[in-house]
Amino acid sequence: MNSQNGTDRAQRPYDIVLFGATGFVGALTAEYLARHAPQGCRWALAGRSLDKLEHLREQLAVIDPACAALPLVEADASDAGSLRELAESTRVVATTVGPYVWYGEGLVAACADAGTDYVDLTGEPEFVDLMYVRHDARARETGARLVHACGFDSAPHDLGVYFTVRQLPEGVPLTVDGFVRSNAMFSGGTLASALNAMGRPRESLRAARERRLHEPRLVGRRARAPLGGPHFSRETGTWALPLPTIDPQIVARSARALERYGPDFRYRHYAGVKTLPMALAGPAALGAGFALAQVPAARQWLMHRYAPGDGPSAKRRAESWFSVRFVGEGGGRRVLTEVTGGDPGYDETAKILAESAMCLVADALPKTSGQVTPVVAMGDALLTRLEGAGIRFRVAHTR
Ligand SMILES: NC(=O)c1ccc[n+]([C@@H]2O[C@H](COP(=O)([O-])OP(=O)(O)OC[C@H]3O[C@@H](n4cnc5c(N)ncnc54)[C@H](OP(=O)(O)O)[C@@H]3O)[C@@H](O)[C@H]2O)c1
Repeated sequence: MNSQNGTDRAQRPYDIVLFGATGFVGALTAEYLARHAPQGCRWALAGRSLDKLEHLREQLAVIDPACAALPLVEADASDAGSLRELAESTRVVATTVGPYVWYGEGLVAACADAGTDYVDLTGEPEFVDLMYVRHDARARETGARLVHACGFDSAPHDLGVYFTVRQLPEGVPLTVDGFVRSNAMFSGGTLASALNAMGRPRESLRAARERRLHEPRLVGRRARAPLGGPHFSRETGTWALPLPTIDPQIVARSARALERYGPDFRYRHYAGVKTLPMALAGPAALGAGFALAQVPAARQWLMHRYAPGDGPSAKRRAESWFSVRFVGEGGGRRVLTEVTGGDPGYDETAKILAESAMCLVADALPKTSGQVTPVVAMGDALLTRLEGAGIRFRVAHTR
């Protein structure tokens, strides 16, 4: 760590600044911090509208009267000066300002430059690849940890695979398959990000190619996340449909970075679907969404049906749940594990983002810098925090 990231950082005015606090997930994250930030944690709300931030602060003061004194920071994603000031004022920035490929880069650049730790909620592979190519090297120089995908995408999958690997022998080839199930809905912001990502397949491929040119090759080990084929998984009792989200990419990066995943590691990521009709309908719906996302007018129409800032009601979220089952195998051992929790896209995502920010501020962590996955940056400490916060990691059985 250089001086920018050592004692200087501790003297900054804030421990955590939450950027995008006025959005749907931003407000849930602020509520979580209002309830759970430890005494003495210096945190602030940031966004582009002081009026909206003041309104949010009033709501937070109902939860905890001390929140009436929360500092407000005005910053706009299109104003590099405001992002630099924001990054220099704090030890950690947590941001919900997306789609990240549109709004995210300025803040990543400012954090990399200022040696400020950074967590976000992106599920956009193109954005993560571009940020690696453009800002990883600078972040390594300043000691900043840039941790993308600290929401349901991808922390439960990244940590769930890590948890599964820990149940298996060391030093042998390992395979893990993950099966995701949920009954949850999406918000306007998430829909905008998903449609935006689906509408940019060429840009995503280009960014992935650029990343491969810059990233050092793994020597003497293998870590892969190939797309699996559809099949019925007897062990989880579900039809498994390949799920090409950012999650398997993040898992493979953790496996590349950590020897514990063994000499030859393979992860495959699936949606686990209970019935055959649903299994047949899933790819059709995804295909239709992908096709619509290629047509700008259709994309705009879909986005306007669910405006940014909108999302599922508290009642709907309270009824929502997720489960990710992992089947791990290696060295003659087979294990079934499971990660479960409540509403994945919003309540749990806000919880994971807030806990990740607090983890980077307060916990004893391995020394890392640059673009790092949730597991590489925070592994055991974040897992312990999430368990304490009600996300369950368990071994269902071993053979
Ligand atoms: N990883 C996951 O599992 C996961 C789960 C849920 C959501 N997400 C992602 O999280 C992001 C937020 O979702 P959401 O539903 O909360 O979206 P949202 O309600 O639309 O919130 C977006 C936030 O960005 C702010 N913003 C937009 N443009 C800005 C600019 N130029 N400068 C500063 N702030 C700006 C908005 O401010 P105003 O209030 O002033 O408009 C708002 O606070 C999306 O990218 C979504 O895909 C990820």
